Amino acid sequence: MISTVKTVLLTLTLLLLFIGSSFAQPIIIKFSHVVGQNTPKGKAGEYFKRLVEQRSNGRIRVEVYANGTLFDDWDVQEALKTNVIQMAAPSYSKLSGVNPQLQLFGLPFLFKDAEHLHSVVDGKIGTELLKSASKNGLVALAFWDNGFKQLTANRKLTNPHDAAGLRFRIEGSNVLTAQYEALGATSLTIPFPMLYTALEKKEIDGQENTLSNIYNQELYRVQSDLTLSNHGYLGYLVLTNNSFWSQLPEDLKVIVQGAIKDATEYIREMAIKLNDDALLKLRSTGIVKVQVLTSAEREIWRTKLRGLYPDFYNEIGADLIHKVQEAQTK
Ligand code: LMR
Repeated sequence: MISTVKTVLLTLTLLLLFIGSSFAQPIIIKFSHVVGQNTPKGKAGEYFKRLVEQRSNGRIRVEVYANGTLFDDWDVQEALKTNVIQMAAPSYSKLSGVNPQLQLFGLPFLFKDAEHLHSVVDGKIGTELLKSASKNGLVALAFWDNGFKQLTANRKLTNPHDAAGLRFRIEGSNVLTAQYEALGATSLTIPFPMLYTALEKKEIDGQENTLSNIYNQELYRVQSDLTLSNHGYLGYLVLTNNSFWSQLPEDLKVIVQGAIKDATEYIREMAIKLNDDALLKLRSTGIVKVQVLTSAEREIWRTKLRGLYPDFYNEIGADLIHKVQEAQTK
């Protein structure tokens, strides 16, 4: 008799738990970023949302806030640490406060191509960097691509001397400051959502960015020349925070990790496609002059800017820089 009552009670409890969980509020992941929806990061954010919501059967809802509508480049890090948002993917140059070694990615002419970069982030160096960036309440989950940066200004920049005396907007890192100093130019850290206006008001003369960002922000309306320099790399560290991550049930963690992995593959394809498309679109505007460097011109830029590396042997690590250079020859 007692065991029958126990069985009934147990069944009722399970039933109540089941009913309760089917009406439970979904867990919300707020993902804030500063670029447009039709960019590699914009697309990858939406793709991640779709995957997570489908695979979790609605137990997780992802809210993606694009174009800096929620937070700009700097506020986003504080919002993430305090769990106001649960996901962000700032560029490496904005994360030197989290780990100065991430400036590695901003060193000019360090990565030969995307394949070289992937061999680094997919290997031991990438694993170590994810570990060392996971501190002060942040958890680093993945590396997301955008692509190589190009220079824009209101003059053509075929030789490093052409940049002398100009003021460039930077994302904010010691490497980028030093890069423009080496060119005899100056730099100013400006949040991405304010870049267009700063160019329009002539607070700065030029900037560097990927083609997809240049096209989507319509920077071609306020810059006469685009030089295809491919001089530096722009990519993102996908971050969450420890208070969210440590409380996420294990099965949902697996779903989020799987979706991040798939979105990482997806953004690699999107980055190539959207940057290629953007070049065609920029050319077809007929507004901006696209300057293609000859290999001799590119070599002059390369020699000039690679001269910076020894200045960062302490901050980034000589060993790390050399290992990345070696990976290129493999
Ligand atoms: C920039 O600030 O120029 C970029 O980091 C924006 C972005 O997120 O791609």
